[in-house]
Amino acid sequence: MLQALSRISGEDLYERHVNPQWVRLLDVLGMNAAYDRCVGAELLTSDGRKILDFNSGYCVHNIGHNHPGVIAALKDELDKCGPAMLQAHVPELAGELAARLCRLAGGRVNKVFFGSSGSEGVEAAIKFARAHTGRPGIVYASGAFHGLTCGALSLMSNGFWKDGFGSMLPATESVPFGDLEAFERKLADKSTAAFIVEPIQAEGGVLVPTHDYLPQAQALCRRYGTLFVLDEVQTGFYRTGPFLAGHYFGVEPDIIILAKAMSGGLVPCSAVLMSDAVYYSVYTSFKRALVHTSTFSENALAMRAGLVALDILEEERLGERADRAGEILRRCLRERLSQYEMFGEVRGLGLLNAIEFKPPRSVKLSVPFNTLAMIHPAIFGQILVMRLFRDHAMLNQVCGNNFMTLKVSPPLIIEDRELGLFAAAIDEICGLMHTFNGFWTEAIGLTRRAFRTI
Ligand SMILES: Cc1ncc(COP(=O)(O)O)c(C=O)c1O
Repeated sequence: MLQALSRISGEDLYERHVNPQWVRLLDVLGMNAAYDRCVGAELLTSDGRKILDFNSGYCVHNIGHNHPGVIAALKDELDKCGPAMLQAHVPELAGELAARLCRLAGGRVNKVFFGSSGSEGVEAAIKFARAHTGRPGIVYASGAFHGLTCGALSLMSNGFWKDGFGSMLPATESVPFGDLEAFERKLADKSTAAFIVEPIQAEGGVLVPTHDYLPQAQALCRRYGTLFVLDEVQTGFYRTGPFLAGHYFGVEPDIIILAKAMSGGLVPCSAVLMSDAVYYSVYTSFKRALVHTSTFSENALAMRAGLVALDILEEERLGERADRAGEILRRCLRERLSQYEMFGEVRGLGLLNAIEFKPPRSVKLSVPFNTLAMIHPAIFGQILVMRLFRDHAMLNQVCGNNFMTLKVSPPLIIEDRELGLFAAAIDEICGLMHTFNGFWTEAIGLTRRAFRTI
């Protein structure tokens, strides 16, 4: 049996036993590459191509892929054969990492719960907020992406992610992102435990709120006894310039959720930072010392990766780099793209950026655009992603809750020259899209073929 299995390729086994639909989707888009080596912002494929990464695994690879510093630290940790997942001791590395995260975050937070994913962090925040306030309600902003476990998913309005999975967590309600009046109306009956919000909605389309939105939302939370919770899963670890996007807006949340870039891209890891007051309302006595925990929480490899990732982010001054590179990128993109009818806007902060496209007005473009949109409303953005990959060897993605918007979030170590290459590539694609019928006939043909096979 084992011998028979070894003759089948890993890809075939994946297709049989993990997620065949994913393999088909990558095939249809011509993006099913085999990657041999990923270093920094470069992804080397087995057929000899060099792909530049402008997605960073959805903001995981802030320090670049396979940073030698993280690899060395992890090897060292393994060589030590120390206690890993012993569940019966005090993991010192967790203490060191927690202290450092709280110091960097500043403000109210002083305790940390560690987990393994962003969604797990959101679940913990929901529980802690309910325990602290004794209230059931959680308010979230429509368009948010908080993760796909049941509690986190209950804080998302897009039916694409929720449909077919039955009823969600009760007492979860949305308000429009940026609407303080609607928000205050929700808080007024004092049944809301927490407002859980991304400082910048990443998958919503990289929506940067006005500078006073979050401080005012925080003030309303304090007035009505609601916890103010920032989901910094994508925005944390200098992605937007400062350590947290919340720092840019000058807020001091009661709870902060971190994940993604925390592990240096190699070990799953998340952290929920909270005030002492929140902590003590959950872990009220030593009888309840483990009342919320998780098997992989505080594991040595994740803690070590977290510590060394912070060293690298600080030593390489990647926050300053994100700031400067983001400005260069946005300027280049605006200069090149504003000539195009379908260009909406470029927006972002640091190296969390988006290019939004809008439906065309001219007959010449709206006929093929609408034909494509009728086959599938989300396909237009995916065609751009496919072309960037195929014609320009660049990897990026559309926003998960905003399919007309391309997200541009390269590793923070990306070079100016590479940002210029990206702007030139998207300019060339936009040029074709606006002048060359073949762009649309190929897109429509490919989409029809794809949907026929699905
Ligand atoms: C803002 C935000 N919060 C939470 C999550 C969920 O994180 P995870 O996929 O690690 O569960 C994501 C994932 O993309 C996210 O973007």
